[in-house]
Amino acid sequence: MKYVIINGSPRRKNTWKMVEQVKSNLNGDFEEIHLMKEKIPLCNGCFKCIVESEEKCPHRDIIKPIVDKMMDADGIIVASPVYAMNVTALLKNFLDHTAYFYHRPEFFTKKALVVVSTAGAGQKDVAKYIDETLRHWGVNKVYKITYACGGKDSIDAKAINEVSRKFARDVESGKLHNPKLGDIVFYDVWKAMACSNEPIEADREFWIKNDLINNDFAPEIKLNPLKKAFSKMMFFVLSKFIK
Ligand SMILES: Cc1cc2nc3c(=O)[nH]c(=O)nc-3n(C[C@H](O)[C@H](O)[C@H](O)COP(=O)(O)O)c2cc1C
Repeated sequence: MKYVIINGSPRRKNTWKMVEQVKSNLNGDFEEIHLMKEKIPLCNGCFKCIVESEEKCPHRDIIKPIVDKMMDADGIIVASPVYAMNVTALLKNFLDHTAYFYHRPEFFTKKALVVVSTAGAGQKDVAKYIDETLRHWGVNKVYKITYACGGKDSIDAKAINEVSRKFARDVESGKLHNPKLGDIVFYDVWKAMACSNEPIEADREFWIKNDLINNDFAPEIKLNPLKKAFSKMMFFVLSKFIK
């Protein structure tokens, strides 16, 4: 199995130790991206990735190799400490550079694991933010590990082992899960945008090219009949609002 690790901590301490413990439970090859080393300039908000093409991003030469590793991986691990009740600026800047994946989701066959460390607060909200971002990108199933170290130099190896082994088994199984209702809503929001009267052309082309536009969810995933009906209804309602 291939795993890519996107680490948003600027130092090799608590988050890094948690990731090392995760790795001890996974079999395969690891590509580790320490965002601190990548020196990605700040997103300048030019909108080119969203409106024209991700290839037009002025920082594409740094972002593309990272994204290629994510596309190539079976499992994606995203790690961050809590900084001021949010992800680190390093991770946020990376997520800003990849925000086009909200519009053009590509990760329907991938599983992900989110790792968050904190002193005492914010870990659940930060893990939820990363989880939701990945699910907007289509990620099939997201696992989460959070730990409040309380200023001590420790990790909760037992909890890390438990969740990372589940993640490993799931990645190795190759099984794709039926999406949660929330994932279907995310899908239908972006589909409705691509089908609107004035869509972003890059989005519309992507949704057509990948055969997403005529489906109730990504074609790789077979929705059960209830979820199929839910998606149809959701799309119908959303299309009324997103014109
Ligand atoms: C700039 C900064 C902001 C932080 N903000 C918070 C915070 O809002 N809440 C909290 O509980 N801990 C906060 N912390 C503590 C870190 O989340 C915690 O020590 C974490 O385990 C550090 O991970 P690392 O060893 O990978 O750097 C902050 C630390 C720094 C350096």
